[in-house]
Amino acid sequence: MAEAAIGGSAEKTSHEEVGLRFEVDGEIATITLDRPERRNAQTFATWSELARIGDSLPQQVRIVVVRGEGPSFSAGIDLRLFTPEGIPGQDSLATLATAEDPTFEQRIAHAQRGFLWLRRPDIVSIAAVNGHAIGAGFQLALACDLRVLAEDAKLCMKELALGLVPDLTGTKPLVDLVGLPRAIEICLTARAVGAREAAAIGLAELVVAPEDLAEAVRDLAAALLATDRGAATATKRLLQGAGGRTLEEQSAAERREQVARVRALFAGS
Ligand code: ACO
Repeated sequence: MAEAAIGGSAEKTSHEEVGLRFEVDGEIATITLDRPERRNAQTFATWSELARIGDSLPQQVRIVVVRGEGPSFSAGIDLRLFTPEGIPGQDSLATLATAEDPTFEQRIAHAQRGFLWLRRPDIVSIAAVNGHAIGAGFQLALACDLRVLAEDAKLCMKELALGLVPDLTGTKPLVDLVGLPRAIEICLTARAVGAREAAAIGLAELVVAPEDLAEAVRDLAAALLATDRGAATATKRLLQGAGGRTLEEQSAAERREQVARVRALFAGS
């Protein structure tokens, strides 16, 4: 059993509702969406647990792999949340729709926390995507720094087909990766993007045969672990900031990071 505090209220949640497995092997942590019988559908409890994992990530972890058990990466939000009965122990969207502001927004903010930490500069997150990544599933893949796709992967921003907007932090990385016109087209048609197209438009770093997915992710993790952690953290921070800075500002940021790096290197020698 896991204790989940959502929107200020503590709720008891079972593994069935959380649907996550978390394992650490040295510098690599693996988060497995683990409800294959529901195609790894996500609930508020899932997002709460994701946030908790981020808060308590062991210090030695440099790589976080997010993967799905079974035939799909994730079928998105658990559709039972749309029913009046909802999921035992969790509010349904019907209940939240009538909640006083700002309760509902706080609930979404708490869910978003589960996704946002995957961008931390001191780690590299890799989504290993097989089968469907729909709605919240697509957004979870977008929350990661890198995406390795199996050839059978299908990415779909299904929210609009349900009358919703994507709100689990996916819209900015999507626009950053594919540009505004393509992001509009993908979201507003709610169509599926296959693995080959995903790679061609910048949504995937690598596409491999489904049986090679785990090995491809292991190889990528090993390559990422081959460089110095301090330099990797500082460089990721630099790269993440580049889009919001002018060339002069970015050059100044490079100087600051380098001075800190060289000082750290000589202090350690
Ligand atoms: N929520 C709850 N249960 C789900 C979900 C979901 N999102 N997706 C699948 N399941 C359940 C099915 O109800 C089914 O349960 P059952 O065996 O008790 O009937 C089981 O998982 C298997 O689903 P199938 O549809 O039989 O699996 P298949 O591999 O043929 O299809 C697919 C997978 C394409 C993912 C399909 O299940 C699907 O379209 N799911 C709904 C996707 C969706 O609309 N998600 C919401 C997106 S919007 C958002 O995330 C905010």
